Amino acid sequence: MKIEGQHYRSLWWNAGEAVLEIIDQRWLPHDLRIQPVRTLADFSDAIVEMRVRGAPLIGATAAYGMARAMADDPSDASMDTARDVLNRTRPTAINLRWALDRCRTALRPLPEANRAAASLALAHAIADEDVEINRRIGEHGLTLIREIAARKPAGEPVRLLTHCNAGWIATVDWGTATSPMYQAHDEGIPLHVWVDETRPRNQGALTAWELGSHGVPHTYITDNAGGHLMQHGLVDMVITGTDRTTRRGDVCNKIGTYLKALAARDNGVPFYVALPSPTIDWTVENGVDEIPIEERSARETTHIQGRGEGGGIATVQVTPDGTPGGNPAFDVTPNRLVTGLITERGICPATPEGLAALFPEMAREV
Ligand code: MRU
Repeated sequence: MKIEGQHYRSLWWNAGEAVLEIIDQRWLPHDLRIQPVRTLADFSDAIVEMRVRGAPLIGATAAYGMARAMADDPSDASMDTARDVLNRTRPTAINLRWALDRCRTALRPLPEANRAAASLALAHAIADEDVEINRRIGEHGLTLIREIAARKPAGEPVRLLTHCNAGWIATVDWGTATSPMYQAHDEGIPLHVWVDETRPRNQGALTAWELGSHGVPHTYITDNAGGHLMQHGLVDMVITGTDRTTRRGDVCNKIGTYLKALAARDNGVPFYVALPSPTIDWTVENGVDEIPIEERSARETTHIQGRGEGGGIATVQVTPDGTPGGNPAFDVTPNRLVTGLITERGICPATPEGLAALFPEMAREV
């Protein structure tokens, strides 16, 4: 998508210097800082420190990390080490494991001399496929937005609510939850997006920055406002992303998503999840019991980062000294609360049958 008129992806290969370049998201939405990622340790740090974040983007980054490892040392041992180092970085989003296992399966049978080139080509393919998957999710999600728009008086906006940042910077391009929004806006459908702030790291500010750059009308709201807005008929549809969705359609996403789904159910608001197929964990049935939830530093709850009065990035403490913080980073929305899953192959119910009908070859494999 565009920043100040220039098209960007969230990562790209700099062939001249043979390095991956990323947008360091720790400084957004205030500063656009681009950073090269050179070593396996750099790749691991970039994911751990959330310079890159969002399930599809960390999967693509890990694939480039594997390419780095293969360029340095194409042995089986190096491949296994890279897989383990990168897979350990964040526990919840399944795209990491998906990308790394795909790389290992493709590279293992190859002679060592061919692995560096093949792994780089595979990383490019994974990045390009992500863009296309998200574009198609946008096309399918757009049909839902069109249906809502058709029921409204002309000119009245379709009011969407989203949580966290499932935008283009959380993927390689387009985003998942935001892709239908961008496509609807580009088609001229009036939209208004309620953007949850998404404490503790305020990924909603990233979504606000994205939507603002694209000209999509939006309002940044506190995490607790969604239920109130739904009760008052101010939300037509919720669309979120996901970090891992189980074979029966339980959706793991940023902490707070479950509460939005509960409020949506209580108020008859459709709750959709934009789901790229690499985010489906076909090995897991019950998301609540089986998906590992990342527990992040308490400091993210007791401190908050933003732009200080002088213009620089500042961190302030919001709690009394010594206050203990608890920080589960994701939660699971049971499939019964999900109206539908918007995938690159179409929209399906959040059920084992729904997913298996769209992805029969993947459902069969397990
Ligand atoms: O902790 P983050 O910022 O990586 O969490 C991101 C999310 O929860 C997104 O909603 C999810 O990864 C989907 S991104 C298309």
